[in-house]
Amino acid sequence: MKITLRLIFFLVAVIAIGSIGFSFWQARQEEFRLKNELERRANVIADSLKESIEPLLPAESTRSLERIVNKFSNRERLLGVSVFDIEGNLLAASENLKVTLEDSAKTIKSDLREVERLNSGYGDFLTLAGRPVHAYSIPLITEERTTHVLTLFHDRTYITERVRRIWVNSFWRAMIQSLLVALTTLIIIYLGVMTPIRRTTEWIRRLRRGEPVEEMNPKHRVLLGPLAGEISKMAKSLEAARLAAEEEARLRQSAESLWTAERLKEFVRVKLENRSLYVVSNREPYMHMKKGKEIEAIVPASGMVTALEPVLKACGGTWIAHGSGDADRQRVDSRDRLRVPPEEPQYLLRRVWISPEEEKGYYYGFANEGLWPLCHVAHTRPLFRSQDWLHYEIVNRKFAEAALEELEKASDPCVLIQDYHFALLPRLIKAKRPDARLALFWHIPWPNPESFGICPWQKEILEGMLSADIIGFHTQFHCNNFIETVDRVMESRIDYEHFTVFREGHTTWVKPFPISVDFVDNGNSKTAAADSPEVLLKKHGVQAQFMGVGVDRLDYTKGILERFRSVENFLESNPFYVGKFTFVELGAPSRTAIPRYAEFIAEMEKETERINGRFKSKNWQPILFLKKHHSHQEILPFYRAANLCLVTSLHDGMNLVAKEFVMARDDEKGVLILSKFTGACRELTDALIVNPYDVLETASAIKTALEMNEGEQKERMRSMRDLLKERNIYKWASDLVGELVRVRFAQPL
Ligand code: G6P
Repeated sequence: MKITLRLIFFLVAVIAIGSIGFSFWQARQEEFRLKNELERRANVIADSLKESIEPLLPAESTRSLERIVNKFSNRERLLGVSVFDIEGNLLAASENLKVTLEDSAKTIKSDLREVERLNSGYGDFLTLAGRPVHAYSIPLITEERTTHVLTLFHDRTYITERVRRIWVNSFWRAMIQSLLVALTTLIIIYLGVMTPIRRTTEWIRRLRRGEPVEEMNPKHRVLLGPLAGEISKMAKSLEAARLAAEEEARLRQSAESLWTAERLKEFVRVKLENRSLYVVSNREPYMHMKKGKEIEAIVPASGMVTALEPVLKACGGTWIAHGSGDADRQRVDSRDRLRVPPEEPQYLLRRVWISPEEEKGYYYGFANEGLWPLCHVAHTRPLFRSQDWLHYEIVNRKFAEAALEELEKASDPCVLIQDYHFALLPRLIKAKRPDARLALFWHIPWPNPESFGICPWQKEILEGMLSADIIGFHTQFHCNNFIETVDRVMESRIDYEHFTVFREGHTTWVKPFPISVDFVDNGNSKTAAADSPEVLLKKHGVQAQFMGVGVDRLDYTKGILERFRSVENFLESNPFYVGKFTFVELGAPSRTAIPRYAEFIAEMEKETERINGRFKSKNWQPILFLKKHHSHQEILPFYRAANLCLVTSLHDGMNLVAKEFVMARDDEKGVLILSKFTGACRELTDALIVNPYDVLETASAIKTALEMNEGEQKERMRSMRDLLKERNIYKWASDLVGELVRVRFAQPL
């Protein structure tokens, strides 16, 4: 309030000073104009009178003079006229002036002397008997010399009055302006400043107390500008810290030992003795993309990124990845590095650049047309081209150089290498840095030895991988396949009890580490209620009561066509749901430069059109295919509103969409339908497990899910949530890092 008063006072003072200045100037102008006008008028009258008086002077005919001068008294501001001789003796004067003039003879005399001196008209502003007058005198000439003076007296009180009125008007104008300004300022401050500040204060207060709050009102963000962003970030950190503290306290109380970000951070700090962690992957956690004139940081659709990002955020370290965003180069320093996440930097991202030709051979070619279909066995034939292999080797070397550069000053560093893009990397790094502890985590399945055997470079791949100290897969099944493959292809000593491979004096441990999500348990402070399927679908122009959701990269391994056909079959055999159930596919286009992927997207579009064509009505359609990259914030409302989530991969290492759906359902409702060919189905046994190739089975699971009573939904969801709470991404990272630190000193049996 004090500030408001000060502001108003300041504004009023400025207006007052401005008004005074302006009024002063206006009054001066007006006074000057009126005086000039008066003088001109007096001059004209005096000149005309002079002609009548001068002939009477030699005769000194006082009576005639008086008759004339009396004619000019009290005429429109002209008070009267006088005639003095040059010595100052009054010869004649208008009747009403006589007495006054006799009293003021001294004042008049000085004017007479001025007239004599100038020998022309002379005007003066005097006060006669307390009255402001204007006296205008001109010389009267007889016998060619000034013998007398004719003076005209005008009342000039009207000038003073006019000037006074100007001041009074200005005063009122300034008063009204000040009042209006004060009132407007008060309204603006109250509505535009005080209200948002009051509401924001209340918002912060509720946050501090740990009460559930919504996002800050965007209207208030406008006023608080960049401050709002900082407050929001601070609020989020506060909320996260509060939840972490609550969780820690709860865990201490219940003597549970769940893994949290804080616990992992401490664990890594102790285990690595304050050395930092290094991650190498092809896909980067943040891609900078041009959007019009702006540059936007997007999180790519990748299960690997979803899993690794919380680990780096918790522990810090360096993530080395391919800079694939079209604006990536504009955001790095001279050493191709930047700190991320962009809104709250916590670790270092080192970008590696590869040429389009290298990308074509290494990424699109060998990794995604060769190894990807080879490992997934999803009936897409792997393509092996020697040119692609060459680029795969070149890019692996390039990444090895970048990694070695980053490791230069670190002794005994721990490096977590991600995925099938870097099978050769462990060997390349180990050759230069035998002290480095290397874990290679394979995020996709490993096929049986017969399937893998078709790869022309299987030996080189296995050799490269076996330089790692640990090779991790999501499931024991994939570890078994890998060990069997090694057994068939390489000369080595395998210990089946401990799952180690010993070759060329080096031991590699092969172990399952089921990857997971950053499970956030809000405890008692549940998030705000989710939108209903109706509300969410309405935004997309569809009216339906029930909703299913699928979230995928558009990849032929995800069983999306089978899923669509299951939806079709479900509607066919359950006409009750026609017009009531819509399946939403949030699909992020992926690897579209590969013909098989482009074909696959075209097939999906065709199937969507065909199925929708069969069933759709005016405001309803069975499949809503939203083909674009969706951010996590965009996906969340669909997870939270859906009656069921369909994960129907034909083969999948783990599948984190299944786990994300369970994590999102803090209302413990909703049903997960999960393919038996995912790694996730080994843990999420309370999902409805289906064979995605069996369209009828999935269709019947959709019906079961939609008609499952709330009690059963809750029981299943709660059990899956409890499991994920325990087997979260922090446990995955602690297992992997813990093992990596330990195995270096263990010798094979
Ligand atoms: C799988 C792989 C990841 C990869 C992701 C997205 O999950 O295991 O390594 O990042 O697919 O594919 P992309 O080719 O777009 O990186």
